[in-house]
This record gives sequence, structure tokens and C-alpha cells, in this order.
Amino acid sequence: MPELLLTEIDHVAIAVNDLEAAIAFYETTFGATVAHREFIEIDGVEEALLKVADSYIQLLTPTRDTSTVAKYLSTKGEGIHHVGYRVADCGIALEAVKAAGGRTIDDAPRPGSRGTTVAFIHPKTAFGTLIELVEE
Ligand code: CO
Repeated sequence: MPELLLTEIDHVAIAVNDLEAAIAFYETTFGATVAHREFIEIDGVEEALLKVADSYIQLLTPTRDTSTVAKYLSTKGEGIHHVGYRVADCGIALEAVKAAGGRTIDDAPRPGSRGTTVAFIHPKTAFGTLIELVEE
């Protein structure tokens, strides 16, 4: 067995049509609070992160029609979009996926929200789930 490269669930990302309505649901129902909001220009999305212990719920809504989240919403509707796994070193984890013959979306680590370094792994490699490797 290789060494465990995943250190924590960083976030569960949920694609929504109405970001304010989704935030209000988590706030009023569960008492969750928004820890961070950001426009991620490169991905064409706006996010709101609600903290749950050491992890986040990441609510995502598209800011343009060409965003992959816009395509996701139009074909699949609202729901879980991806899971972010925290790693100590995004590059090492990404290379482990490639070494195992896995298909990646990002060829190299790149900037994510809140100053993180991230890389996405194709759902075809990961049993139907889009995975984001997140290095804080
Ligand atoms: Co994410």
C-alpha cells in the first residue's frame, strides 16, 4: 500500500442556481455561516464556503454560460458537483494519479480559491466523481 496522500475532506461542492437561496438554506436550517466568498474568474463561478468543523460546504454558481458549472446545471441540474480532498502536496498527489494511469483535467497544479493550490481529476478515472486535490 502506498502512503496515504489524502489528509482531510476539504470540501463538498454543490452546484446551485441561486447562491443566495442556497446560503440562506444552510444558515437558517443548520446555523452554518459563510466563512469565505470569492469569484473564481478562471472557472467562471462564484463560491460561498460554509465551514463545518475543519471542512467546508462549497456552494457554486456559474457567472457565465461557458462555465463548466453552467453546463453541469443545464444537463444534470443542481446537486453534488465535486469532492475536494486536502493533500499535503498537490503536485505529488497529481503525479500519483498519473503514475496509476489516471486521467486528469489539470496537467499541473494551479491556483484555486482562498489561496489554495488545486488540480482536478477526471470522473472517468475516479468512479464517476470529479475530484479536486486541494493543497492549503
Ligand atoms: Co472545489
